[in-house]
Order: sequence, then structure tokens, then C-alpha cells
Amino acid sequence: MGRTNQGKPAFADRRTTEEKLAAIAIDPVAFGSVMLGAELWRDQRALLRAVVKHKRVAYKKCHATGGTFAEAVLACWWFFRYPRSRVIITGPSWNNVENVVFPLIHHLMDQSRRLAEQGGLGVPFPTGFKTEIRGDQDRMILGISTDNAERFKGFDRTHLLYIGDEANALKTPIWEAMEGSQAAGHVHVLAVAQPELGSIGSKFYRAFHEDRDSWHTMTTDAFHTPNFKKPSRGNGYYDLEWLLAQDPVEGGVLDQNPVPYLVTRRWVYEKHREWGPAHPWWHSKVAGAFPTSMDDSLISLTHIEEATNRDVSEGQKITVGMDPAGAGRDEFTMRLWYGYKLGPQWASQKPDAFGHALIWLEKYRSRIDWIGCDKGGLGSEIVKQLEDLKWPVRPMHAQDVVSEPEKYLDAQTERAFALRRGFDDGLIGLGGNLDEKTASQLVTLRWTVNNKGQIAMEPNAARKRRGLPSPDRFQSLLLGYPGSTRGVVDFEPGYGSGTGGEGVMGGSQMGGMRGRSW
Ligand SMILES: Nc1ncnc2c1ncn2[C@@H]1O[C@H](COP(=O)(O)OP(=O)(O)OP(=O)(O)O)[C@@H](O)[C@H]1O
Ligand SMILES: [Mg+2]
Repeated sequence: MGRTNQGKPAFADRRTTEEKLAAIAIDPVAFGSVMLGAELWRDQRALLRAVVKHKRVAYKKCHATGGTFAEAVLACWWFFRYPRSRVIITGPSWNNVENVVFPLIHHLMDQSRRLAEQGGLGVPFPTGFKTEIRGDQDRMILGISTDNAERFKGFDRTHLLYIGDEANALKTPIWEAMEGSQAAGHVHVLAVAQPELGSIGSKFYRAFHEDRDSWHTMTTDAFHTPNFKKPSRGNGYYDLEWLLAQDPVEGGVLDQNPVPYLVTRRWVYEKHREWGPAHPWWHSKVAGAFPTSMDDSLISLTHIEEATNRDVSEGQKITVGMDPAGAGRDEFTMRLWYGYKLGPQWASQKPDAFGHALIWLEKYRSRIDWIGCDKGGLGSEIVKQLEDLKWPVRPMHAQDVVSEPEKYLDAQTERAFALRRGFDDGLIGLGGNLDEKTASQLVTLRWTVNNKGQIAMEPNAARKRRGLPSPDRFQSLLLGYPGSTRGVVDFEPGYGSGTGGEGVMGGSQMGGMRGRSW
């Protein structure tokens, strides 16, 4: 890991020692160059300077742009720069934090100590432990695994820097914990990731979409990295057309990479052959873009597989979703939820379905907290009857008030994304209660972003054009889902407990969203 000849020193070497020392206090790039012997390339430099300037920085990148390396330089600078500093490093894969991020930090600190020993400018960094480095004046760099969001709290009144590596797969509770600390003091967040499949709708995704007001964002695609820079002066970069015109012979142009440890010409060339430019992995790993062409399903098969195997304890209270339907055409469906554990379903196409539905529901009556019933069309009559019969009915409609109208087109979409987050965050357990028909409705649901930047579910009419039935079974599952009415329902303590805790997060640590299959 030598110096790169691409990174330009932050300032000319003829500066005096005083000038260098003045620069390193305000500029992590100068610090890296002088104190760590690390020369950064253009986007690495821009990234570090952005973090100094902005409280929240999200960086989406293609494969191997030196994102993690830049994080390591930044961690060293922050540690050096502020007494009572806290650098908290996390990621969905502990293996990555422990065996990729921290070794880079130790390597840079070693390099700096050596520079100091040789009589140059360097920092006598403490050696520390594998994922915990403590220095004088209460300085600290700490790796925290994502098993327990609580551990991210309690760092108030310090100079706090959170670094999320592979942040696209960080679960919501971790983001919430980091955001919670931001209220107090000097707190900055850097989130770095390849915008992979499955990260659509995640907090990382939102930083580039709905939440972009509160984030400074940056993107690096492969064609704007050092190995694609034209040798001539200026800002020119080679493009895909140029790459494809090259002779792929071994040792040829594809293997002439000025900075071989960053994304190489050959790698991009081969991925183009392997995946083609329409593949979501091309979007993500080469273009540094969120995949769009195929990743528009609300719930993936992987979501369902994971939730089927997940052990979720059963809540005492039951919530029910009810989607009434007229005789003959659609199905009248009901779905029970025992907290976040999916319960049984009832469905019928008979003319007197409602009467039968009530008979079936009667045996659960004492445990039922509420029944979310679609009040549209025939539903309005059903809602009235349920009220008359003293069932705890909660009328719902796709056009109900949306709590975050800038993000979601309608209440239906907002609820659907709450459900998706329940899958993402590992809250939901399906057990054996998901039938094939409901499963197929779940995985064929699509969403899109409209021209106002709102997320919208595919209308039923468009679904019908794709030859798919109206998703009645999904409807009732969604209407009863307890997580979509957070803040409305008073959750009793322990309701759905044991579902969001350590085991759940731990289970997805290694694969996270990375493994979402295609
Ligand atoms: N400025 C630099 N100077 C020296 N080595 C560097 C520099 N930037 C990156 N590297 C090295 O290049 C390799 C790739 O960098 P790094 O792991 O930081 O990339 P990344 O963008 O995080 O990759 P991934 O997409 O796999 O997460 C590593 O071995 C790293 O040490
Ligand atoms: Mg990395």
C-alpha cells in the first residue's frame, strides 16, 4: 500500500513546518499526506473535506474507489484533532469492520509512528487493541457491531464522528441511534457504500432521495476513477466505448492501471461481459447508482425466506386486517397478526362471506386489539356493521392522511413501506403461515418514484395489465400489520418483544442486504 502517484500532495513541499502543522489541524487531506504518508486521489480528498464541512455525508460508490481507506485516514485525523474525540465505526458486517477497516487504521498509524521515529513529521499514535484505540485526553476510536443499537448512544458532549462502512445495509435502529446523538454537540456522520440491491428504501438510499436536504451526497463511478483518467492534462476520462474498443490481450491496455489497487480497467471490462449494462449489478458496482431496472419489487424473495426462518415470539394481542369484497369476483380476505408474528388467514369468494368471516373471528375475539378494515366501496357497509356489533374496528383507506407526504404518495404506500421496513429490520416472522398465493402477491408488488420524488405503489390497473390479479391477500395482511400504525396504537410492553433484539440483527450481519439474490 504505497503512495499513489495519482494523489496530489495537498500543498507544495516547500512549505515550512509551521505552515504544514497549521494545515493539518484544519484539513484531514493535508494531515494524511504529512502525518500518515497517505496520498489521496481526487474523490477521497473531496470526501474528507466534505465531512469536515458537513454534518452528514453519504457517499455512494462503485467497487474499490478507496472509500474504506479514506475512512481510515479520516478516523486518524479526527482522533488526532480533537481531545475527547470519539470515532465510532460500524457496519453490517463485523468481519469487515474488524478485518478491513481497523487494520487500515492500524496500518496508517504504524506508518505515522515510523515517520516520527525517522525524525520526520508523524504522530506517536498509541497502539491500542484490534477494534479499540484509546489516546490521551480521552481520545478514542471504537468499533461497534450492529447487534445492539443501545451501544451507539451515550457519547454526548464529545467530538463525535460516526463512520458507517457498507452503510446501505445498516438497519434503521442504528441510524436512529446515530441521529439521536446528533441533537447534542459536535457530531458528524459519514456513510459509505456501494448502492446495492435491496438498499432501495433504506436510510442510505433515502439520503440520496427523500432525505437529501439533510445530507451532503457524493458519488463515484468507475469511469471517473484514476485508472480511467487520460494521461493528458485536463479532466478527461476514458468511457465505456473506449474500454470496449481495447484489445483484451493479457498485459495489454486493460492491465495498464496506474493505480492497480483501485477499480481496474480489466475488472470493468469483464463485468461488462459478465453482466451487461442493463444488469442491476452494473448499475451498482460500476456506475455507483442505485439499481433501477429490476429492483422495484416491494418485498423480495429473500425477505420472505429470511422472515420464514426467523423465530419471532408471539404477541398476546391480535391485530386483524380485513379486505371486504363483493361476491364472485375478488376474495374477501382476513389476516391475523400476533404482534409481529404472522397469524392465519381466512379467505372466501362466497356471497355470504362476511357472516362466515365473523363466525371464524369470534374465537379470537377476546385477544383482538383492533381490526383494520378497508372502508372503500363495499367496505363502508362492513365497517358500519362491525361497529354495530362492537368489534374494535379501525376504518382504513388508501387515501387516508399520510404522515410523511413528501415521501409517500398515499397512505397505502406509506403502510406498504412500513411493512417492508419490518422485513428489512428483521422484525417480522412468517412462520408457516404464509401461503403461496399471498407470497406471490407480495413479491410481485412494485413501486416507483414519481416526478415529485414521492414513492408510489403500482396501481392495480397497471398490475392487471401485467396479467396479475388484484392483491387482496396482501391487502388484508397489510391492513392488520401492527407496525404501520406506530404512534397510533398503544403498544403494550413486550408486545412483539424479542423481535427487534440482538438475535435478529445478528442474523443478518454477514449477509445483510448484500446477498439479496437475483
Ligand atoms: N490513497 C490510497 N493510498 C494507498 N492505498 C490506497 C489508497 N486508497 C485505497 N488504497 C488501497 O486500495 C485498496 C482498495 O481500497 P478500499 O478498500 O478503501 O476501497 P473501497 O472503495 O472501500 O472498496 P470496496 O468497494 O470493496 O468497499 C485497499 O487495499 C486500500 O488499502
Ligand atoms: Mg470498502
